[in-house]
Amino acid sequence: MSESYTPEWVRTLSCGEPKIGDDGRGVVLNGWLRARRDLGGIIFIELWDYTGVTQVVFNPEATPEVHARAKDLRGEYVLAVKGKLRKRPEGTENPSLPTGEVEVLAEDFLLLSPSQLPPFSPDDADRVSEDLRLAYRYIDLRRDGMQKNLRLRHKAVQFTRNYFDSNGFLEVETPMLTKSTPEGARDYLVPSRVNPGDFYALPQSPQIFKQLLMISGCDRYMQIAKCFRDEDLRADRQPEFTQIDLEMSFITEESVITLIEPYIAGLFKETTGAEITTPMPRLTWKEAMERFGSDKPDMRAPMEITDITRVFARGENPFAEIASNGGAVKCLLFPGGASLSRKETTDLENRAKELGSAGMANFKLTDGALKGPLVKFLDDAAKDELIKSSHITPDDILFVMADKNWVKACTILGQIRLELARDRGLIKDGWKFLWVTEFPLFEWDEEEKRWSAVHHPFTAPMDEDLALMTSDPGKARSRAYDIVLNGTELGGGSIRIHDPRTQSAVFDALNISPEVARERFGFLLDALSYGTPPHGGIALGLDRLVMMLCGAKSIRDVMAFPKNQKAQCPLTGAPSGVDKKQLEQLFILSTAATDNK
Ligand code: AMO
Repeated sequence: MSESYTPEWVRTLSCGEPKIGDDGRGVVLNGWLRARRDLGGIIFIELWDYTGVTQVVFNPEATPEVHARAKDLRGEYVLAVKGKLRKRPEGTENPSLPTGEVEVLAEDFLLLSPSQLPPFSPDDADRVSEDLRLAYRYIDLRRDGMQKNLRLRHKAVQFTRNYFDSNGFLEVETPMLTKSTPEGARDYLVPSRVNPGDFYALPQSPQIFKQLLMISGCDRYMQIAKCFRDEDLRADRQPEFTQIDLEMSFITEESVITLIEPYIAGLFKETTGAEITTPMPRLTWKEAMERFGSDKPDMRAPMEITDITRVFARGENPFAEIASNGGAVKCLLFPGGASLSRKETTDLENRAKELGSAGMANFKLTDGALKGPLVKFLDDAAKDELIKSSHITPDDILFVMADKNWVKACTILGQIRLELARDRGLIKDGWKFLWVTEFPLFEWDEEEKRWSAVHHPFTAPMDEDLALMTSDPGKARSRAYDIVLNGTELGGGSIRIHDPRTQSAVFDALNISPEVARERFGFLLDALSYGTPPHGGIALGLDRLVMMLCGAKSIRDVMAFPKNQKAQCPLTGAPSGVDKKQLEQLFILSTAATDNK
């Protein structure tokens, strides 16, 4: 037991390497004891490392003393095993293992480190709660799947660095202790001991710094950047995540798109072998909303939304007022949906109401005639127009919704589209990329009763919409773009404002007073006035990208040490309370207040 890890015990092969051509060879393997079976005196173990497992046999007749010691070995013990590789006896091969044709007949072993009884075996990790997996992440990461994800992430990062390096990008690190960067989430704040009462903010993104780097003449910047956002978590969101962050000078939208498409195609080819078709399709935000009811449509789902406002704009019908007063009537064709039962259609109507709609009607085409609760309101010409514009066939069902706000009607039908496609297995395998362009510049914040930036306030308005910023802010479009994959927003960026006057006009429209703008972003406004090249960029969510490449269901499965749904780290216990003394030093608690307690 006291033997030490001397050179003779250093592995000569990794656990996934032994193969049939090597039989007869003396080997040393190092790894974790994964599974163990005691069969009629013979002990079999599986020895694991990140490359795979190999079966090791302890035979009481061949090596009685070694076999006797092996009886005490348990799961997750770390061992060095010395022995001879041999072909497994006929009929005992394991074709599901790359090493399944061979085994090591142990001649000796060294116990390098015992293990307490683990709370779960890596092989059983799927059956325990995620919090337990995260609390013992070092055991959870001993799974082949997790190792595969970590290694694929590494490969993706290497590919990324090489790609942008060979395209003239300069990797620059930007500060973590900084000033608030407006990306729409809450900030994580860090108190400053040296400056009592003042706080740094952790960056929501390196946005302002990358723009400053363009003003500095860096021309092309990239960073694998950590970002921090205090927001509600979802399967594809973490409070601390990584962006592939890029910025370029003297460019337009086209330059970004033609740089990113070959990068994505190369990355997918390199890491998964998949062929990605380029150029990728593009939709303006308006088209994406009108046809798919989403600014990140899943193009794998087959259905589309159509506008049928005209059909309802004349005559007397329940939608006439909405249709003739600037509202919209939209429909979603569900091919093959004629066979839906009454209960299924009622459930879908209830779902639409849950999503905020006043109601959802339906039409079917039976024996050449439209059927449905609203048919009685339509004359023959309207019925014909509805059949023609919706392309309904006798196999289909048409869901119809009216709202004074077209975006709302489309968004709800878009959600129904997604849910129907998912529930009915209509989403096909494959990678469906899409660029969404010309986002609105502003959106109305009902709570705050003011306009807010859809991307961030440094995004340039489209030249032709500059005047709309004051006359009709909701209609102004921006030079922002998102790249979407299978319904997930992979990345987003924009061409930036490069003159201080437009920047101030945007702050104005956002109701950020000149004083507040100066206080928060004065340094940027100043910098813009010292010679700023036209510039723009994009940030891709590295975690989301790797999640897609790995086929993982959660972003947490592609991060070594993620937070749980409550933004906690079950492994370290963060966030946690701190000493009163530390709070005093940071001027968060006054000495007087703590003395009185
Ligand atoms: P944006 O806020 O759209 O843009 O972020 C870019 C990409 O980062 C990923 N992402 C996240 N991933 C995991 N967890 C999160 N909480 C999270 N939030 C965002 C997404 C998203 O598409 N500075 C701008 C970029 C620019 O304009 O160049 C920015 O940060 O994949």
